[in-house]
Amino acid sequence: MNKLLVSLLLTLGISGLAHAAGDAAAGQGKIAMCSACHNPDGNSMLPNFPKLAGQGERYLLKQMQDIKSGARTVVEMTGMLDAMSDQDLADIAAWYNSQKGTIGAADPALVKRGEELYQGGKLTDGMPACTGCHSPNGAGIDLAIYPKLNGQHAGYIAKQLTDFREGDRTNDGEAMIMRSIAAKLSNKDIQALSSYIQGLN
Ligand code: HEC
Ligand code: HEC
Repeated sequence: MNKLLVSLLLTLGISGLAHAAGDAAAGQGKIAMCSACHNPDGNSMLPNFPKLAGQGERYLLKQMQDIKSGARTVVEMTGMLDAMSDQDLADIAAWYNSQKGTIGAADPALVKRGEELYQGGKLTDGMPACTGCHSPNGAGIDLAIYPKLNGQHAGYIAKQLTDFREGDRTNDGEAMIMRSIAAKLSNKDIQALSSYIQGLN
């Protein structure tokens, strides 16, 4: 193995360790405040509160850090994470990730359009399929911090895609991955995709 690769692997290994490993059991004891909206197992009941169950430990941690720092605005959670340490957030991420996400239903009238967009993208507009990052069944790729989407409330998904498109959510990195994808989506596209994702399994 060449030296560059070895040192790269070492760096990755060390930064992996530097991210304090989350303890799911400890996390379960730290979510009393969250359960009113996200439910104890992370399967929230109302469509504007995202399901967190099984969403991916790295993704959950990143979102909580972004919400805490203000990089992502969630008015409903104002101040709630301020007193939490990195270890608390890692534990909470491990807890929600260890829970099984429930799947909803898609509107049959929207499935065909939603599936076309999700699985195929809009090639004429240069918009890639969602599958490359969120995977064909919506499970995501947590190592790369691509969130799981399947089963998520359509109302929440629609709000996120609209927020990315309108520049109201900007924590998708300098490459602006989701902002540039959402820019190619009409309101009808967003409705179809959101419904399809809610029923995806
Ligand atoms: C009063 C309701 C409420 C409470 C309490 C609450 N949240 Fe949230 N949370 C929300 C809403 C609403 C959003 C999504 C906002 C949006 O549309 O972008 C959210 C988003 C999130 C997200 C991002 C999910 C994603 O898919 O990107 C995480 C993670 C999260 N909350 C964790 C927590 C934790 C941990 C607590 C407790 C410390 C908590 N929340 C308490 C309402 C709440
Ligand atoms: C090149 C990779 C890539 C592609 C392709 C992609 N996404 Fe994403 N998506 C991401 C990343 C990365 C994030 C997380 C951004 C962050 O850290 O906040 C994300 C976040 C999201 C979110 C927010 C999830 C949540 O829980 O808040 C939604 C919704 C979403 N993507 C939908 C889609 C849809 C629909 C498509 C296809 C039209 C798509 N994405 C294509 C990388 C991608």
